[in-house]
Amino acid sequence: MSDQQVQSGKSTEGMVDYNENSSAQLQLVRLLSPLVRDLVSSMDEPETEFKIVDYGCGPGVNSIEVVKPAIEACLEKFSNSPIVVCHSDQVGNDWNTLFELVEGPTGYTHISKNIRTTAAIGSFYNPVTSAASVSIGTCIFASHWLSQGIQLNSPGTIWFADLQGDARQIVDGIAQNDWTLFLLQRAQELRSGGYLVVGTLGSVPDPSEKNGIAASGRGIYRAIQAVAKAMIDDGLISHESLGSFLFSLWFMTEAEAKYALEQNDDLRDAFEICQINVKPAPIKADDIFKEHIDDPDTYAEKYVGYTQAFADSTLRTQLFSPNCDSAEMLDQLMAEFYSRLARFYEAETSKYACEVWHLVVVLRRK
Ligand SMILES: C[S@@+](CC[C@H](N)C(=O)[O-])C[C@H]1O[C@@H](n2cnc3c(N)ncnc32)[C@H](O)[C@@H]1O
Repeated sequence: MSDQQVQSGKSTEGMVDYNENSSAQLQLVRLLSPLVRDLVSSMDEPETEFKIVDYGCGPGVNSIEVVKPAIEACLEKFSNSPIVVCHSDQVGNDWNTLFELVEGPTGYTHISKNIRTTAAIGSFYNPVTSAASVSIGTCIFASHWLSQGIQLNSPGTIWFADLQGDARQIVDGIAQNDWTLFLLQRAQELRSGGYLVVGTLGSVPDPSEKNGIAASGRGIYRAIQAVAKAMIDDGLISHESLGSFLFSLWFMTEAEAKYALEQNDDLRDAFEICQINVKPAPIKADDIFKEHIDDPDTYAEKYVGYTQAFADSTLRTQLFSPNCDSAEMLDQLMAEFYSRLARFYEAETSKYACEVWHLVVVLRRK
């Protein structure tokens, strides 16, 4: 790996104001709700309880919305079956907010006395729950996070889609291994006849791009890159810290998502592929905040909020922290970055819009 290193660490701990800034995720959850309902309605009754697991659940709203249709369909079809809902995420997730919402008026515990809620804390690249116990597993906007924080020599870009040469090959290898591992774990956990529904950000072929793919969110990552680069020019962060920083993400194409399922013998034996596709989001595919385009202040505020929600902890720990001697200095540097990002979006607006292609994978455990 010569001068390139891969560094361990978590990439998404402590998301900021997530429930306020996750409308793009909610859109996908709503899109998948009828499918989740139909899959549950088509299943046989489990021998014991009906277990729903939401992998990478996050702090609340969307995890509740994705499990509700499964709960409702289960109650309609198997009125006496006990239901277990398991929310799975890493230790740094905002579990208090999640459980307040689960119990609250928009939650689901009031729907039936037969529902038990649990949490599984740890990485979904490890076992999350007992073998052959899950009737339906969902994973929304989460499986694109790789199993480790990545630090490697990648001057000129902070994200996978613009990587070149060896750096791209290394991260491609990690992404394929992670996807295979994620699916092998779920193959252990799903019961026969159970379903896995993965909805996340995807990429589509685009010959005009460096690597022949257009990846969701390319505008945002290029905006972050440009703002961080200007902070080097102004002496606020070091060249090295940006040159070795990379978001540990990979947004798969349809072909990449299929590859492991077709090539790995254990996965081929375990799963029937019901659906794998990448499509533009049904609304606002070309700009998630396009309704604010005529008001640059609000447009910029929305993009900064969205960036903070998914990227704050990654930027803080992996990009800016190496440039700071104290927590106070780090807070100041983060504030400076967000203020610059806001000015950048006010000036550039839709040139750096966030486009969205949804990757949807639906698998049935044989
Ligand atoms: C963008 S949020 C999505 C949350 C929720 N599913 C939604 O749709 O709003 C991504 C979530 O994935 C979780 N995540 C990332 N990597 C993970 C891993 N290896 N194991 C478990 N959860 C993970 C993060 O902690 C975060 O809560």
